[in-house]
Amino acid sequence: MSDPLLPWRSQFPILEKCTYLVSHSLGAMPRGAAEKMQDYLESWATRGVRAWAEGWWDMPLTTGDRVGRLIGAPPGSVAMHQNVSICQALILSCFDLSSRRNKIVYEALNFPSVMYVYEAHRALGVRVEMVPSPDEISVPLDRFLSAIDEETLLVPLSHVIFRSGAIQDVAAVTRRAHEVGALVVADLYQSAGTVPVDVGAWDVDFATGGSVKWLCGGPGAAYLYVAPRLQNRLRPRLTGWMAHERPFAFEPGPVAYADGIARFLNGTPAVPALYAAEAGYEVVGSVGVEAIRHKSMRQVQLLLDRAQENGLVPRTAARAQDRGGMVILDVPHGEAVTRELLRREILVDFRPGAGIRLSPHFYTSDDEVEQAAREIRQILDSGAYRAHEQAGGTGF
Ligand SMILES: Cc1ncc(COP(=O)(O)O)c(C=O)c1O
Repeated sequence: MSDPLLPWRSQFPILEKCTYLVSHSLGAMPRGAAEKMQDYLESWATRGVRAWAEGWWDMPLTTGDRVGRLIGAPPGSVAMHQNVSICQALILSCFDLSSRRNKIVYEALNFPSVMYVYEAHRALGVRVEMVPSPDEISVPLDRFLSAIDEETLLVPLSHVIFRSGAIQDVAAVTRRAHEVGALVVADLYQSAGTVPVDVGAWDVDFATGGSVKWLCGGPGAAYLYVAPRLQNRLRPRLTGWMAHERPFAFEPGPVAYADGIARFLNGTPAVPALYAAEAGYEVVGSVGVEAIRHKSMRQVQLLLDRAQENGLVPRTAARAQDRGGMVILDVPHGEAVTRELLRREILVDFRPGAGIRLSPHFYTSDDEVEQAAREIRQILDSGAYRAHEQAGGTGF
């Protein structure tokens, strides 16, 4: 079958060397990233301190606008930060946690780093309510909605759950949250770049995510969206001189917040990471998320079919429209099997309590998808996993 996206493979050097099915963890590096890094080095080497005024200083917001185009956010509503944990802590720092409205509601399958941020704020009054997942794949929507009440401050949910790839109904959660005066933080890390997202249409209050995975942008380029209607009403306590109206006046004393999204910055930005990430945004923007989703749904189904033919048990949402870009296979000896796959240059990962995670992306061929299912079966049947059973965790 002809695959119109396969020509993009040549833009990703690692695909010549291995079977890359791990974009839910780290997207492959586009060739363009090396050029962008060269641009960064060139500006540092030749422009020196002048590079700040010639673009570096503005990059957290100019790069933010680029990300905004991929997530349905208008210009002036996205600021770049180092990671999602910082973005979540920054959002929380906008609120009075000792008031009655201090409940945080999220799914039990939320990304643990996000949980750690909210849990750590119990010391300041936060109450956390986790909505349980009976099947460890998704959270029943009606239970999620009924947990959100008049005492709920924030609902920081993942659009796609990292442990199962299940899609959550962010728009429905947002409607419920707004009915009772709560605010929603959508974590788009496992969706943006593979599942269409539209923060404007959903009407979420905040969104976060990073560029490491489906956006193929590398580490250090996370984003924070704040709905324009909220921006000037909030005063983040996690702040710094870039959030000041007059940063170069170096005024002592409290921060005088800048207008708009700039008030959600803090200190000096990670400029090299922002350069590197641009290449990923360009490629994903050119391929188009609709086209990526179309191919992803086809290859996810192909992988599920081949898995089933090979007697491998998926832990994935039943309906195609409820699945993101990854497939989880609950394989016996899953961690050891993963080690053997890695030895065979088939890059996937393993998560305890979930299984082997595999992800086709727009640069994946059908042969690679079929090969992965076949090799897992062969590793199990031949006992090749046994050599790895005593080894430590697969980590990343
Ligand atoms: C849903 C989700 N949120 C957040 C993160 C990462 O958070 P951070 O950027 O703080 O490392 C991941 C990474 O695996 C993730 O899958």
